[in-house]
Amino acid sequence: MTQQRIAVYPGTFDPVTLGHLDVIQRALKLFDGLIVAVADGPHKKPFFPLSERLAMVEESVAGLDRITVKPLKGLLVDFARENQAQVVVRGLRAVSDFEDEFQMATVNRRLGPGLETVFVMTSEKFFYLSSSVVRELAFLGGNVGDFVPAPVAERLKNRRKQV
Ligand code: COA
Repeated sequence: MTQQRIAVYPGTFDPVTLGHLDVIQRALKLFDGLIVAVADGPHKKPFFPLSERLAMVEESVAGLDRITVKPLKGLLVDFARENQAQVVVRGLRAVSDFEDEFQMATVNRRLGPGLETVFVMTSEKFFYLSSSVVRELAFLGGNVGDFVPAPVAERLKNRRKQV
């Protein structure tokens, strides 16, 4: 039997956007299985707690096959090894993403030889999108319906009512 090709797509997903979902759907065409790894990311001081970011990703990928969603608390290379993933998937939106991504991929290669990074080009519809843009829009009362999956839009709306 041939080995299953498992990829891991890591990110902070604060919150997950349609841009991330676009990368997920493209990655699913390339691999047998995809693990979306939601990083604890304490250095980024995420707005949404890890539990809520995990829930938002889970709600957003409901209905898609071959995906699991897991928390990522330590090093990505360790997570990949523990989950038998051979590939890291990252989305590229613009040339400006390249420098950071190149650095991250190189560090991961040094730490975990054998772990390959594959870059997927985000749809041009989402080149401008980021989680912080979505958060700002939502909290200023803008309509985020075109930028995030419906369950995330709903949560953002509820959050705004609470603050
Ligand atoms: N669509 C929309 N937005 C996108 C996007 C896309 N396709 N791709 C990236 N973004 C946005 C994100 O929303 C995020 O926006 P924000 O900064 O406004 O919140 C920004 O781009 C950066 O996100 P991303 O590129 O996914 O990086 P990240 O900081 O969320 O995640 C990790 C980085 C988690 C992958 C990395 O820190 C990691 O691997 N951590 C584990 C620890 C480790 O192993 N460290 C060593 C690795 S060098």
